[in-house]
This record gives sequence, C-alpha cells and structure tokens, in this order.
Amino acid sequence: MSRRRQIYEGKGKVLFEGPEPGTIVQYFKDDASAFNNKKIGTITGKGVLNNRISEYLMTCLGDIGIPTHFVRRLNMREQLVREVEIIPLEVVVRNVAAGSIATRLAIPEGTTLPRSIVEFRYKAKELSNPFVSEEHITAFGWATPHELDEMMQLSLRINDFLSGLFLGVGIRLVDFRIEFGRFYNQNDEMSIILADEISPDSCRLWDSRTSERMDKDRFRQDMDRVAEAYQEVAQRLGILPESGPRDIQAPKLMQ
Ligand code: TMP
Repeated sequence: MSRRRQIYEGKGKVLFEGPEPGTIVQYFKDDASAFNNKKIGTITGKGVLNNRISEYLMTCLGDIGIPTHFVRRLNMREQLVREVEIIPLEVVVRNVAAGSIATRLAIPEGTTLPRSIVEFRYKAKELSNPFVSEEHITAFGWATPHELDEMMQLSLRINDFLSGLFLGVGIRLVDFRIEFGRFYNQNDEMSIILADEISPDSCRLWDSRTSERMDKDRFRQDMDRVAEAYQEVAQRLGILPESGPRDIQAPKLMQ
C-alpha cells in the first residue's frame, strides 16, 4: 500500500489513488473513534470485516439498481471504488429511536418511529457535523433541490432493502449513516451515487430477539465483545473473512 499516493486518511479508512484514472482504493483500518475523536481505540479485525460487509451490502444494493461507487474488492482490507465528488452531507435514516435523536427529542431508546425519518448532517468536523435542514443545504449550495430529492429517494430505497435483508438474518436495522457523491461519466454527465461504506461502524444493528447491540455503539459505550459483534454480523450475512469472494455463503435465515 505504501507505493500508492495517499489522498486522504480518516480514522477508519485510508484512500489511495487507484490503478486507473477515476478510481480510488479504500483501505479499511482497525482504528476506531467516537465522540468527535474524544475516544480513540482499535477494534482488532474490524477493517477486514468492514471491507467484506460493505462489499456485500453495496453489491446487493447494486443488484437492485442502486448506483454505488463500489467496483470490486482487491484484498482483505482494500476495495476499488469509483472516484466521486463527495457531497458534504451525512444522510442519516432512522427506523427506531436511538443515539442522538433519543437524546435530542427525549424519545425512549427502542421506540419504533412513526415512519422512517431522514436527517442530514453537514460534514464539518470543526463543528462536530451539525444537523442541518433542507433549507440550509439548498441555501448554502451544498446540494441542489434535485440532488437532495435524489438522495432522499435513494436513501429510503436503501433503507427498505437493508431493513429486509438484515431482518432476514435476525438483525433490526435501527438507523444508519450514508454518504453520496457526484459521479461524472465519459460524456461528463453527472449522477448521484452511493459512496463511502456501509458497515457496523455506520449503522445501528440490534439483535431482533434480544436487542443486543451488534455495532460501534459497543465501542462508544465501553461494552465488551466489540470485534465479536462485527464478526457475528458478518457470519449472519454469510460472509467469512478468510474466504475469497466466490466463497460467500448464503445468508443464515432466522425464523
Ligand atoms: P446518531 O444517533 O449519533 O446521530 O447517529 C446516527 C447514525 O449515524 C448511527 O447509525 C451511527 C452513525 N454515525 C456515524 O456513522 N458517524 C458518526 O460520527 C456518528 C456520530 C454517527
């Protein structure tokens, strides 16, 4: 990985220039951070698992017609993705009250929301990624009304699909955070595509029977068995980190 030009390093990932123009290599690290870097640590094996889980979910989403940046997994910790111009927003979709919405609006954690709720955060670390309204987004030009519409529609489709997929393996998709980018094709036509990653780092995943946390909240809340929770998500999805892409097993269906 050292021979490639590094473009960006975040807590969970490093981005390198890809082998062809318009491509990027995403390297998944074991490092974890929370509370705007106030808590920093390592979750052994997380990078390998997130690489596989994100590959699996992005591939499934691609199969139902959601455009994504994912091209192919390169090895245990790296995947090749299409280069996009990242829209400076985090899109959060919530099905169940947890985390910041439970605190902000005093809704008991675990309450099923009346409908799926989409929220936006402005990506600005120095401001701790504040929640913003559609008015802010269009007024400040972070995205056009059309792009916003597209992101909302894609996010709700992603939520419907992933909720069903996870429920099939005994996991409740409580909420998740995704990011989108502008992709320009050879004719310079722009489309909005799903970027970044989808993994237990960016989702809240609860066991559907016991509500046991199977995501990064275990790290945030100093719980034990953090790596094991990520491993369990991968296992239930039928992904084994040791095996090649052709060895992906069918998901383990739960009654
Ligand atoms: P929140 O309840 O803290 O607002 O988080 C909502 C979702 O966003 C949850 O699935 C976790 C994810 N998330 C991130 O991916 N990165 C972050 O820095 C934070 C705070 C949350």
